[in-house]
Amino acid sequence: MIKSRQLSRLGALLACVSAFAADPVRYLSDKKLFVLDTANATYVFGLNERNQLQHAYWGKKLWRDADLASVHSAAEWASFDGSASTTPGEYPGWGSNMYTEPCLKVTLADGNRDLVLTYVSHEIHGDTLVVVTKDIQYNLVVTLHYHVYPGVIEKHSVIENKTTQPVTVESAQAGVWYVPPGDGYRLSYLNGRWAGETQLVQEEIHPGVKVLESRRGTTSHQTNPWFAIDAPQGGGTYADQEHGRVWFGALGWSGSWKFSVEQTPHQQVRVTGGYNTFDFGYPLQPGEQLETPAFYGGFSDHGFGEASRMLHHFAREFILPGGVSAKPRPVLYNSWEATEFKVDEPGQKVLAEKAAKIGVERFVMDDGWFGARNDDHAGLGDWYVNPRKFPNGLQPLIQYVNGLGMDFGIWVEPEMVNPNSDLYRKHPDWAMNFPGRPRTEARHQLILNMARDDVKEYTFAWLDKLVSENNITFLKWDMNRNFSEPGWPEAGPANEKKIWVQYTRNVYEIIDRLRVKHPKLEIESCSGGGGRIDLGILKRVDEVWTSDNTEALDRLRIQEGFSYAYPAQAMMAWVTDVPNFNGRSTPLQFRFLVAMMGSLGIGNNLNKWTGEDFALATRMIAHYKSIRRTVQQGKLYRLFSPHEGELTANQYVSEDGKQSVLFAFLHSQQYGRPAPTIHLRGLDENGVYRITALDPNKLAEKLTTASGAFLQNHGLDVLLVGDYDSESILIERAE
Ligand code: DGJ
Repeated sequence: MIKSRQLSRLGALLACVSAFAADPVRYLSDKKLFVLDTANATYVFGLNERNQLQHAYWGKKLWRDADLASVHSAAEWASFDGSASTTPGEYPGWGSNMYTEPCLKVTLADGNRDLVLTYVSHEIHGDTLVVVTKDIQYNLVVTLHYHVYPGVIEKHSVIENKTTQPVTVESAQAGVWYVPPGDGYRLSYLNGRWAGETQLVQEEIHPGVKVLESRRGTTSHQTNPWFAIDAPQGGGTYADQEHGRVWFGALGWSGSWKFSVEQTPHQQVRVTGGYNTFDFGYPLQPGEQLETPAFYGGFSDHGFGEASRMLHHFAREFILPGGVSAKPRPVLYNSWEATEFKVDEPGQKVLAEKAAKIGVERFVMDDGWFGARNDDHAGLGDWYVNPRKFPNGLQPLIQYVNGLGMDFGIWVEPEMVNPNSDLYRKHPDWAMNFPGRPRTEARHQLILNMARDDVKEYTFAWLDKLVSENNITFLKWDMNRNFSEPGWPEAGPANEKKIWVQYTRNVYEIIDRLRVKHPKLEIESCSGGGGRIDLGILKRVDEVWTSDNTEALDRLRIQEGFSYAYPAQAMMAWVTDVPNFNGRSTPLQFRFLVAMMGSLGIGNNLNKWTGEDFALATRMIAHYKSIRRTVQQGKLYRLFSPHEGELTANQYVSEDGKQSVLFAFLHSQQYGRPAPTIHLRGLDENGVYRITALDPNKLAEKLTTASGAFLQNHGLDVLLVGDYDSESILIERAE
């Protein structure tokens, strides 16, 4: 017989089970709360007594809805900080006495600029939530969209003018993320410049607003739309790779964007993100709407390592074309650093033959094949094959490359025009401009105004023709400058500023249409290196060019920063000739192993290689092919950062845990000190692993097998010496 105590225990257990099995998105009608659960986090907001949406909680997963209380607006703080500023609005419109960053700011036709959004209705469908809000007076409707993924929540909004007059939107943000109120938080972000992208910056968040942004019309090399905020642990230390609470977010937009990272006088710590408000003004006619980009956010209770792995998995499963079952990226050869603009049929064939011999799977011809393109002064816009360099068109080269067993890719820069081109002479008005004003050239080129429909259609047509008439399976889509004089005279003064949104949307549309029409086509996003890397472009390209800086030591840092936000699968990394940037020469193996931590490419002038170079490259590429799925689609553990000492070490573990690979680099040995012991991660302590080093002499322990417990707790001593020594160790589950 079941006693009443047993019954209540059973009840508690069932409650617990049902709480864990609860719908990922739910509305607690008694408390007017929306609860969104990812695999490891809970996000809560609700309706306060004013019928306004108010943030309640974001952090580690909660399992008991009964613990949650309704939300109430916060009290004012004297007459200076009214409730509009002290209350954490879920999607605050600018109005009343609000002094924090709003999600939406508008001007109505009658001059009214006050906006107060209140709840109208909502719908839940599985893992999506749609909440409709509206201004208290005007028929301006703002719909908030949420989507719950296993480790990430997506939010974006749609602003719709249902009034009978035009409305101008002056700020349209995707949303705002709050971490629990407090101070002492730390912000991490990715900063840089051309040839020095994605440098990790970490600094304490102080009262006030820190703006991370691009005003350049594209994502930018300077700041990447990703952030993380971690909380001080006991003793004042912050999160590390394995421990601590980290909240993170990334924006899916490849135009001008902005994050306002704010600590208010009332200890709210919030990140508002969306379209950059600089020079923004988006008129909505009656019935028109504006959709914001998606802002993705997640939480890790196990430091930055887990935060990155969550983002990597999310990007591979839900953002990148192909999903988790995508084939690993092929090994690529690119001619740029070998030949620059001096491409021609015989020269490319010689390189292709050599590339095929070392195991390359995709041959990409870079800049220089079209128009009068002999240097960067002319030709952009004239997308016909240069008859002097390719007298019989591209077919002979493509057939030759295909005959060698490789597929063929080609470089394009569709958004640009050189003033010295037939296209510009025919359509000078297609270049972005303010009439009568100077046009600023950069790399001797102007930007085609892709916001115009005629330019968009023209661009789609020539790309479609190029891909239809040739067996081209890969485009390297480049963009070598940022906006200047962003005029769009044909749109008329009232609509010109729409260029900031429409340009990017049309670029997206061209790519999307190309991919639908040519399902086998793959695309790399390049913008003079890493100027266009974000979750918006990654939805429609297979990889990105990480940086024009291919110098291996610099690359360790660039790639490390990249890895905080984006997966190795998308990170194109080439081995190139030395001396390179900084005049530095690193050994070929060092360069290979650095590039093998991403999607491997070769950019060397193969005509200059020795027999030894070819032999090493053949061995490295074969090794890469045996581990690339683990690198590109596995779990990354950053063991030693290039920012911290002489040793850099990264480990990748396959999703099924059966294969792992360690990469270790010693930049410069000092005082004869041995490299520190490397403790592996992500292994089964009870398992036994086979250990295979590229050079077995580099393993101090001379092990051929070891337990997971040994590898993680005792660790491996890798005998790296001198400058730029490197090693890769394969760890495979044996028992
Ligand atoms: C910039 C890219 O980042 C390089 O890899 C190369 O494609 C050049 N453009 C070609 O002009």
